[in-house]
Amino acid sequence: MLAVTDVRKSFGGTAAVRSASLTVEAGESVGLIGPNGAGKTTLFRCISGELRPDAGTVAFGGRTLGRMPPWRRARLGIGRTYQRVEVFPELTVLDHLLVADRAPRHRGALWRDLLNRSAPRPTELDRMAAVLAMVGLEAVADRPVGALGLGTCRLVELARAVVAGPRLLLADEPSSGLDGDETASLASVLRALQRSSGMAVLVVDHDLRLVEAVADRVLVMDLGQVVASGAFDAVMSAPAVRRAYLGTA
Ligand SMILES: Nc1ncnc2c1ncn2[C@@H]1O[C@H](COP(=O)(O)OP(=O)(O)OP(=O)(O)O)[C@@H](O)[C@H]1O
Ligand SMILES: [Mg+2]
Repeated sequence: MLAVTDVRKSFGGTAAVRSASLTVEAGESVGLIGPNGAGKTTLFRCISGELRPDAGTVAFGGRTLGRMPPWRRARLGIGRTYQRVEVFPELTVLDHLLVADRAPRHRGALWRDLLNRSAPRPTELDRMAAVLAMVGLEAVADRPVGALGLGTCRLVELARAVVAGPRLLLADEPSSGLDGDETASLASVLRALQRSSGMAVLVVDHDLRLVEAVADRVLVMDLGQVVASGAFDAVMSAPAVRRAYLGTA
């Protein structure tokens, strides 16, 4: 479903992604790990369309995306969460979902919806309730997000990304800033969402327990390239991975 082929991206003199290739099958959950600065976020941004690669191609559903802007990629089914939490503190959890759900369909009406908070229709509320239940946020649906902890905000971001029904979710360090318990519960929510919705997931995280819990298969990036791929245990003992993390085989 996703095919990244020989993507390169430099910033000035820094080659952030040197020549990265990977594929993700429909419904598959793939972990992407690698040391700080390996190029993981840059590669995500090339897939989502926030950055244009200097070379190489990104194809989704058999179609090369080329210069397609991020919002059109989102409509094709590429969803995204961010390394830093990006929420609106005054909006409630439900508002976040409604805005994300309405944005792709309402074109120019988005800001009117935001300003008027036009009342949700029963069918919308049913859909939002289903997503809230899946991520375990029903109890805080009407709370402003600014009053909630970081662990809950991470779940809001996840819910917001899946409400549009993406076929592929790019999750960039969903556990960043969370403690061990919060990370474990986020991992199980993400895995359950992926299984029940049938969406594919490409997840970057430094918490290897989360990656092991969520991913069917793991890719390792180092210095802008994918240097290893396979089942979690096999990849963890591969020499290229030990070199990337420890500087030695
Ligand atoms: N917008 C930018 N301008 C200049 N350099 C950048 C930019 N974005 C990333 N880089 C550089 O590109 C390299 C790869 O960064 P990237 O953020 O993709 O790594 P990462 O694997 O996501 O790291 P981390 O695990 O720390 O999030 C780094 O050297 C980084 O400093
Ligand atoms: Mg990153």
